[in-house]
Amino acid sequence: MQLKEWPAEFDLGIGPIDDDHQMLFRTIQQLGQNIAENRDPNIIAATIMSLSLYVDEHFEREERFLLRAGYPEYDAHKTAHDEFRDSIMSLRHYHQEHSDDVDADKIVAFLEKWLLDHIAKVDRAYEPYLTGATEGDPKIRQRLKYEERSKAMVQITCPADKEQYVRHFVDLISDGSHEGVMIEAAVESVTIKQMARREAKAKRLFGR
Ligand SMILES: [Fe+2]
Repeated sequence: MQLKEWPAEFDLGIGPIDDDHQMLFRTIQQLGQNIAENRDPNIIAATIMSLSLYVDEHFEREERFLLRAGYPEYDAHKTAHDEFRDSIMSLRHYHQEHSDDVDADKIVAFLEKWLLDHIAKVDRAYEPYLTGATEGDPKIRQRLKYEERSKAMVQITCPADKEQYVRHFVDLISDGSHEGVMIEAAVESVTIKQMARREAKAKRLFGR
């Protein structure tokens, strides 16, 4: 498989973002080549993992820039990112389970098309806000502080044999996926039931 050059017409003129986009494009090409050349599944898994980490890092950087610029279409843009995060997660899991059944051409075509379409149609729209040519929405800008606070890291302890469940749970509720929303609703409903049970117990034990 021939590695393609980065098509320069997809540069937005915003240094850190263009660097990220080029890096993602190269990693996608590299992944396609590794699969096409039948490289060791561990090497392919590592390339998918580095693509996944870089996608996360890039989206977080871009989303921070958009909030700081008060970009009015922030929510729609983030939804587009979340869908792609979900696709990458699907690719990771699919490769984990079926490493001998991945089609390099299909993977590269899907990832490359998503990236270039997203840059041309979705990213290009924020350019005047990021360069300061268009004034952003102060209400969106205010959300930056809130988002940063809510992303603060916390340490929790859990039983060792439950670690994988806790990790999976945190992944599910952090990526804004459909399943994450279902889990949050389920936890809320269990919490309400637990509170009602404790209330009834307390009344029985301590009430008049
Ligand atoms: Fe984007």
